[in-house]
Amino acid sequence: MAPGLKFCRNVDDFRALAKRRLPAPVFHYIDGAADDEVTYARNTKSFDDCDLVPNVLAGVEDIDMSTTVLGQKLAMPLFCSPTALQRLFHHDGERAVASAAKNFGTLFGVSSLSTVSLAEIAALTDGPKMFQFYFHKDRGLNSALMEKAKAAKFDALTLTVDTITGGNRERDLATGFSSPPRLTPASILSFALNPSWTLNYLFREKFELVELKDFYSEGTREPVTVSGYFSSVLDQSMNWGDAERLRAEWGGPFCLKGVMSVADAEKAVDIGADAIMVSNHGGRQLDGSRAPFDQIAEIADAVGDDIEIILDGGVRRGTHVLKALAAGARACSGGRLYLYALAAAGQPGVEKALSNIRAEIERDMKLMGVTEISALNRDMLRYR
Ligand code: FNR
Ligand code: LAC
Repeated sequence: MAPGLKFCRNVDDFRALAKRRLPAPVFHYIDGAADDEVTYARNTKSFDDCDLVPNVLAGVEDIDMSTTVLGQKLAMPLFCSPTALQRLFHHDGERAVASAAKNFGTLFGVSSLSTVSLAEIAALTDGPKMFQFYFHKDRGLNSALMEKAKAAKFDALTLTVDTITGGNRERDLATGFSSPPRLTPASILSFALNPSWTLNYLFREKFELVELKDFYSEGTREPVTVSGYFSSVLDQSMNWGDAERLRAEWGGPFCLKGVMSVADAEKAVDIGADAIMVSNHGGRQLDGSRAPFDQIAEIADAVGDDIEIILDGGVRRGTHVLKALAAGARACSGGRLYLYALAAAGQPGVEKALSNIRAEIERDMKLMGVTEISALNRDMLRYR
């Protein structure tokens, strides 16, 4: 077991280990968010403003935390959100997360900015996989991404809709973070102080945005901030018609990621989406946006019977998952909850993080007096 891993009992422990293991620009790219990071903080804090009301004497020796999302049976009601650039965090990158998600019977979200090919990920895991689609100006790239996801037999396509332009990631500006990383006066010391990361980066497999590199130099050959990537190559004219056409072209389970309003949730139903991820991109886009947990009940009351609702963002504990499910979410997803662990210890790290939170969900279900997640309901919540 990697040194320090057995002492990682929660997400914060992994965050501390990741901070020691990563050069500052890379750590702050994961840990950072937009503007004053108010939304980022609220995403997790929002769970503290809601209390659980348990029931007892329910006979909870055997519990079942499984669920079905986008047509895929998941062994736990939490999955790995799509996150970019994973081989910058650990040299195994998406290979590690794909294997860990498979071993825990949960879904793996793969970003358009993946550093491992969809084909290789599909060869690694026959577990549930979603491809997260960024809608680029280059329609040839959009078609190529769609065809690769189909060829790799991904189970669902998720269109991210909250990145129409880049969020103001001031930590990245301060540290000089870019994809690929570049040595700047602000970053050179940090890379020098993290020799194992730097040696891995320099001498292992070349870093590239595998599915994008043949269309854009930005991000692979030409250093760019992620926010700058969004602003220069994503199509800001994207609208509901494009989303509906994409759904039809995909022809399989389809999800919109980054829906926050009831009106948009209703439009997602109208275009035939199967699920929405209620999400503010982990606070990395519009700072001041409401937290997914603050918003989930309003959306569940409006469309909960018509579309699957996933709460994405701020989840750090098993109780956060149970509160979200009781409020009306079908499942939860998260990024940092497994990314710190990836950076800290690769696949064993991600598996420890998933094991920790799965154990919390089981314990918390028993203490709540429920044996199935469908038993969780709004009566078990009290908002302060
Ligand atoms: C992300 N997220 C993200 N979302 C997306 O649709 N495509 C992407 O490529 C990425 N990349 C990415 C990188 C990093 C480092 C982070 C932290 C996040 C957002 C991600 O899918 C998810 O919405 C948030 O991470 C949820 O918030 P938490 O769980 O990190 O608090
Ligand atoms: C981010 C992009 C890649 O949040 O979604 O960094």
